[in-house]
Amino acid sequence: MKDIITLHINGDELEVGVSTHFTLLETLRYALGLTGSKQGCDKGDCGTCTVLLDGQSHLACIMPVYEAIGHEITTVEGLADGRTPHPLQDAFDLCGAAQCGFCTPGILCSSYGLLAEKAHPSRDEIRRALSGNLCRCTGYTKIFEAVEVAAESLRSGADPRDIVAERYDLAFPSRSMQSAACAPGSTGASDA
Ligand code: FES
Ligand code: FES
Repeated sequence: MKDIITLHINGDELEVGVSTHFTLLETLRYALGLTGSKQGCDKGDCGTCTVLLDGQSHLACIMPVYEAIGHEITTVEGLADGRTPHPLQDAFDLCGAAQCGFCTPGILCSSYGLLAEKAHPSRDEIRRALSGNLCRCTGYTKIFEAVEVAAESLRSGADPRDIVAERYDLAFPSRSMQSAACAPGSTGASDA
């Protein structure tokens, strides 16, 4: 059975035809072509489908689409300001926090929700906020560092590049910054 519903996504009001059994994730990906939110486990375990509803992170794969009606939905496609990446996106790039990238949209959305609530989260608070987002590639250290860089950028208005360069200079005072890298502790070793 099909239905036409109205959703508020990334600042737009959209009418969309959906199968009545669709989840929010199926609607985003298969009815609207918003494929940034990934379909991993499809049962609430991996976090790669995470989106924001009214600023709070939610798993789109286990949310019937009808539950999203009337809420402001933000997907990874809605984080940037036009062509300007969100500081989180810049920081993930600079810190090497995305490798295969499959987990990244969900982690960006969870991190965005965290930073909206806490301007200066501790490493433990970041770890807890991302505990539902699984990454098989990075070992998490670079992800946590990237969230810290983005938080500092949002607080101070500084360019994430300058923050990363400063961290690098502090960690390696005798070297000039050769490439974007978060420091200290940028080994990628497991910190989950
Ligand atoms: S796809 Fe939603 S939690 Fe894995
Ligand atoms: S970057 Fe590959 S799963 Fe996280």
